[in-house]
Amino acid sequence: MKALAIKQYGGPGQLQLIETALPMPHRGEVLVRIHAAGINPVDYKIRSGSMKWVYRRKFPFIPGFDIAGVVEQSGKKSNFNPGDKVFAMLPFSGGGYAEFVTVKEALLCHVPEGVTMKEAAATPLAALTALQAFEKSGRVREGDHLLVNGASGGVGSFAVQIAKAMGANVTAVSSARNQDFVYSLGADKVIDYTEEDFTKIKMRFNTVFDAVAKSSYRRCRRILKKDGTYITTVPNRGLLLHRTFNFIRKKKADFILVKASGDDLAIIADMMTRGLVRPYVQQSFLLSEGPKAHELIETERVRGKVVFHVI
Ligand SMILES: NC(=O)c1ccc[n+]([C@@H]2O[C@H](COP(=O)([O-])OP(=O)(O)OC[C@H]3O[C@@H](n4cnc5c(N)ncnc54)[C@H](OP(=O)(O)O)[C@@H]3O)[C@@H](O)[C@H]2O)c1
Repeated sequence: MKALAIKQYGGPGQLQLIETALPMPHRGEVLVRIHAAGINPVDYKIRSGSMKWVYRRKFPFIPGFDIAGVVEQSGKKSNFNPGDKVFAMLPFSGGGYAEFVTVKEALLCHVPEGVTMKEAAATPLAALTALQAFEKSGRVREGDHLLVNGASGGVGSFAVQIAKAMGANVTAVSSARNQDFVYSLGADKVIDYTEEDFTKIKMRFNTVFDAVAKSSYRRCRRILKKDGTYITTVPNRGLLLHRTFNFIRKKKADFILVKASGDDLAIIADMMTRGLVRPYVQQSFLLSEGPKAHELIETERVRGKVVFHVI
């Protein structure tokens, strides 16, 4: 099969098409023919080697954690049959930038009716990040006031929709060029970060979700309600230090580390079926255009998501 892989860490040019053996499904796994693969910032961080101290891989390494495709082969007692349309976040072994992948059944979910393969591939990692940040911790309840920083990006665009689906009042932070987009996601109020510092506004929030990790607990503490929580997607030393004081502070600091989960993806799929969550795909690329796709995502200017169109 064809796959887009890196043979060493480096720039976008390290992404090369290779021929590699078709993966063989083990017990409890399903072989999926990939139709589309989502691209996430973590993919370029791994490619560049900036995460090699925490995430070391053997080469050639096939990046990609988000896939949507059709079941090619499954076990006798499987809930997934050949021909089923499925999507998944892959575990940290990656392998999504390819024509086929084996996936543990527990990570798979059927693609909801009316959702395209590109939309499905755009969803898992970013949507699961938002859902797991909000729901698993029980932090977002009906009527809560929530602020999403970076609302126009992959994680942020799902965060706004999922928080609205959970009944929260959502204030979104984005640049002016993305304001209409962010309102279209359901935001109640949008703050243009190029004009106004959202950490200086009068409103107070139960949760500040820093989806793009461009602010900090120290700066956001002021706009948290007295028992509010700041959650970031990229923890740094400052955040970890503040987090150690959570047990004596009312205003908490925390971070999310997304986990692949078919059960959580089913919650997202249900929201998609009910029309509460819809991925926005800015652009799609062929696998052969890997370097161009990574150059785009590294600009940090993507609206919604970018994906690979595999077949
Ligand atoms: N911990 C985890 O489990 C986890 C999971 C997923 C993602 N992440 C991390 O979370 C971060 C965001 O991921 P993503 O997929 O959402 O990224 P993304 O889609 O690439 O984010 C791009 C968006 O961010 C907006 N943006 C850029 N600078 C901004 C700023 N200063 N203030 C507000 N918005 C800004 C851009 O809008 P404008 O052009 O309008 O500025 C653009 O729409 C990445 O660092 C990623 O690695 C972590």
